[in-house]
Amino acid sequence: MLSRIPWVVGSCGLLSAIGAEFDRTRPFAHMVIGTAIHLEPKTAALLLTLRRGGAEIIAAGNLNSTQAETVDYLRAHGVRVVGSTTTDHDTHLAELERVLDAEPHLLLDNGGELFERYLARPYERLLGGTEETTSGRMRLEPLRAELARPVLVVNDSPIKQFAENTRAVGLSVLESFLRITNRTPHGARVTVLGYGACGRGVAECFRQAHAVVSVIEVDPVARLRAHLDGFDVLDRATALSSAEVVVTVTGARDVLLPEDLALLKNDTILANAGHFPDEINLGDAEVTPGAEGIDTVRLVDGKRLYLLGGGHMVNLAGPRALGNSVESMDLGFALQSRCLEAVATGAVGPDSCVVPVPTAIDERVATDYVALRSTSV
Ligand SMILES: NC(=O)c1ccc[n+]([C@@H]2O[C@H](COP(=O)([O-])OP(=O)(O)OC[C@H]3O[C@@H](n4cnc5c(N)ncnc54)[C@H](O)[C@@H]3O)[C@@H](O)[C@H]2O)c1
Repeated sequence: MLSRIPWVVGSCGLLSAIGAEFDRTRPFAHMVIGTAIHLEPKTAALLLTLRRGGAEIIAAGNLNSTQAETVDYLRAHGVRVVGSTTTDHDTHLAELERVLDAEPHLLLDNGGELFERYLARPYERLLGGTEETTSGRMRLEPLRAELARPVLVVNDSPIKQFAENTRAVGLSVLESFLRITNRTPHGARVTVLGYGACGRGVAECFRQAHAVVSVIEVDPVARLRAHLDGFDVLDRATALSSAEVVVTVTGARDVLLPEDLALLKNDTILANAGHFPDEINLGDAEVTPGAEGIDTVRLVDGKRLYLLGGGHMVNLAGPRALGNSVESMDLGFALQSRCLEAVATGAVGPDSCVVPVPTAIDERVATDYVALRSTSV
């Protein structure tokens, strides 16, 4: 099969321009960057851009999203990949340790796992780095005093919030649902747990695909927003017991507990789009893996449910997952590149520990993107 990666890499206009600049400026000369990020074609574009800035790169993946073709491609282009397509948690943790063994100067983290583990085995030369997600920010916020280095949270950029989390995640979760299940959303009752940046996009995309969408939220203000956006904000039991499809996308663990699953109808389809699979707690249910990432879940009362992608991020799980659109990730990864550049060059200091992307970087990336799109017509 011909590779999709050159198309994706070639479609990342912002990263191409930054790469050309980095060829000259070399902000990461003599530095090691360690990462644990989804190893799929868009991240290949990011990591190769950082290499053009002079970095040596050592990369693990995230659980259940690593694509073998991307690993081969990165290795062929000089990235040291220690990640594998594993779905085993202990193997994944061992891969994170191998990244830290290289004592990277910069960490490009995705879920806060690398920074958290760094604190258990610190070394001198870590300058700081970036964190990609909401889940990682939540994990790292309590660790600020110990980290005491610049850690810029790309998730909290308004650009990532609307371009990726809301717009792109909604589309790609819907795309994954269609591709994996081949079921119609038309008229289906879909319940979305979490109405934050991602949940708003998921709810909206299913609604635009003519599903009947309800929202479950713990935050009263977000619940009001869902109501004013025209979604059913039912009580939890009604929303769950009437659903045919349930999507969790909160960043919190145990969002669905075994007692919630007991309320669901037979044959309800479950999917998680939050960063970690622990949003759905299956308790003692029996899980039988099925083709195309559709697991059958048998509850103790005999009820049958289906779980997509093993409960991992449904839009990134499995060998055929496309993930978010190239353009949304080009924007997010341009922010990543500029933030890592800022840390490497000392433009941000320890007072920028687990803080959003500096506004100047947001504005620069936004300006570059609009200029790029305007000149390409
Ligand atoms: N799948 C992807 O491609 C992708 C992309 C970006 C982010 N994410 C992940 O999606 C998750 C959500 O991100 P976000 O940016 O929307 O976060 P957010 O903080 O904007 O929104 C999360 C929402 O979930 C709500 N919530 C928390 N616990 C809940 C519970 N038990 N029940 C119902 N609602 C609850 C919160 O009140 C909040 O409104 C995170 O794990 C993030 O890392 C996934």
